Amino acid sequence: MKPSLAIVGCGTVGTAMGKLLSDAGYRVMGVVSRRLETARKAARTIGVSTYSTNPWEVTKEADIIFITTPDKAITPTCEAIVNHKGFKKGAVVIHCSGAHSSDILSSARRLEAYVASLHPLQSFASVDQALKIVHGSVCTIEGDEPALHVVRQLVSDLGGILVEISPKGKTLYHAAAVTASNYLVTLIDMALQLNGAIGIARETSFKALFPLIKGTLKNIEAIGIPAALTGPIARGDIDTVTDHLNAIKKDVPELIPLYKTLGLFTVNIAVAKGTLSPEIAHKMALLFKE
Ligand SMILES: NC(=O)c1ccc[n+]([C@@H]2O[C@H](COP(=O)([O-])OP(=O)(O)OC[C@H]3O[C@@H](n4cnc5c(N)ncnc54)[C@H](OP(=O)(O)O)[C@@H]3O)[C@@H](O)[C@H]2O)c1
Repeated sequence: MKPSLAIVGCGTVGTAMGKLLSDAGYRVMGVVSRRLETARKAARTIGVSTYSTNPWEVTKEADIIFITTPDKAITPTCEAIVNHKGFKKGAVVIHCSGAHSSDILSSARRLEAYVASLHPLQSFASVDQALKIVHGSVCTIEGDEPALHVVRQLVSDLGGILVEISPKGKTLYHAAAVTASNYLVTLIDMALQLNGAIGIARETSFKALFPLIKGTLKNIEAIGIPAALTGPIARGDIDTVTDHLNAIKKDVPELIPLYKTLGLFTVNIAVAKGTLSPEIAHKMALLFKE
């Protein structure tokens, strides 16, 4: 028989986890949220009759407890449950944050419960979307050794792709996700600003650049990094890079520091690709350090 579970924090991830794991045969004992109406709605979606605003009423007998509140509420929620003796010995308490390790649940260890984190590496805009895409998503886990076999089974039952990291690695892991997702947005915005400086409207500019962005992503997927790097730095074209720097300095000087920093790191990728002689690489690097 599958273990029983409770959900505390009935938003996108909590509701989706409850529904997917209920469908996979886990017995959902009840759901909890700050507002009763939110808990009631999640209970309906999951198909469970018990819902509450008091976590310990629902978590006490559960084998697995998901605390899927917003990140800042995870630790206080866990501590409140511990203060009400709301975890049984051997229970597995899990949060789904990408930014924090399972250590933010450490108060649960006072009741001899085990802690872990299970982060689906996805951006979920709604419960319906999450229900469709958790299956096939990377799920990154870490935590107390006795909790990990339970969490590995959860990932398998969710149809996720298991990745295990150390608790200490969690912050850099999250920084990597922010870089790949959020900073890609920043980079594209920078390109729109450069075109904006010569009067190209953002919408037109985006339409023009999007096929290039998609093509680059396809190349990265097909041949990887550094092979996918093209352009003036990969070619060692110092004159073109000098022209870029002069034009940006003149028309959008606020973008110079970012352009130079990216250029300097791109030189390293070009060197790794093997298309730059050490001499040209050195000259390029000096240009970006000026
Ligand atoms: N969404 C994503 O793309 C995504 C992806 C991966 C991981 N995560 C992680 O998953 C966790 C949940 O994120 P989410 O996107 O599902 O957030 P969310 O949609 O904002 O849901 C959080 C829910 O928790 C409830 N809540 C707030 N404070 C609470 C408290 N003190 N006690 C009990 N319930 C409380 C809120 O409902 P009421 O206030 O109405 O009761 C809210 O619906 C976070 O750790 C997040 O980092 C999210």
